Amino acid sequence: MKDQGRKITMITAYDHPTAALLDAAGVEGILVGDSVSMVVQGHENTLHVTLDEIIYHAEMVGRAVEHALVVVDLPFPANHLGVPKAIEYGGRILKETRCQAVKLEGGAEQAEVIRGLTAAGIPVMAHVGLRPQNVHVMGGYKVQRDEERLLADARAAEEAGAFGIVLECIPSAVAEKITATLRIPTIGIGAGPGCDGQVLVLHDLIGLSTGRLPKFVKRYADVGRIIHDAAAAFRDEIREGTFPGEAQSYK
Ligand code: KIV
Repeated sequence: MKDQGRKITMITAYDHPTAALLDAAGVEGILVGDSVSMVVQGHENTLHVTLDEIIYHAEMVGRAVEHALVVVDLPFPANHLGVPKAIEYGGRILKETRCQAVKLEGGAEQAEVIRGLTAAGIPVMAHVGLRPQNVHVMGGYKVQRDEERLLADARAAEEAGAFGIVLECIPSAVAEKITATLRIPTIGIGAGPGCDGQVLVLHDLIGLSTGRLPKFVKRYADVGRIIHDAAAAFRDEIREGTFPGEAQSYK
């Protein structure tokens, strides 16, 4: 798609019905992100989801998807435990789910792990710029502006064998430069329109997440409101005695 100048769409999913809907809508990539820790499990950051938990979600997603490429995040701190551990974790993900690739946060300092995983037959998507698993080191979720380092990270990930790369929260001009430099596709989130594709967290995109949204999010629906109103209407009808009616009752 990059070679043809066609933009790539990626959205996160964590369960079977949602993944089936996204696949049917024609997105090319589905990410079982460690964002599940925040938007589904209710934690304050992405550090809490375990390998077994992400496999549980990836299994559901993998069973639903017929067309899209499904990528699964290596949960913290899997890619910092050395190549054998990363292969063990990545291998479990590919073996126990129907998903096809893993994503790991990091560029240059993760090159050895990317190389090891790729050599073991586990396709890797890299993730540079803002790395949410590094939140405590970075001192919060901030735009990353060190152009030299960002370019070096992206190049190192490509050289190590990554098939694609997420660019998170970096200036548009830098993302454009990286995109023009690399042969592999760049998937942006808060990285401007010059990337080869875009990814958003599903719950942000459909209006199901709580709290303040990052600047880079655009809401395409208000599903939170729809669920709230449906639950309230159900409650009202029960209180009024209009549910269940004849149509929902047996003779
Ligand atoms: O976990 C996630 O959802 C991600 C995206 C924000 C790219 O890594």
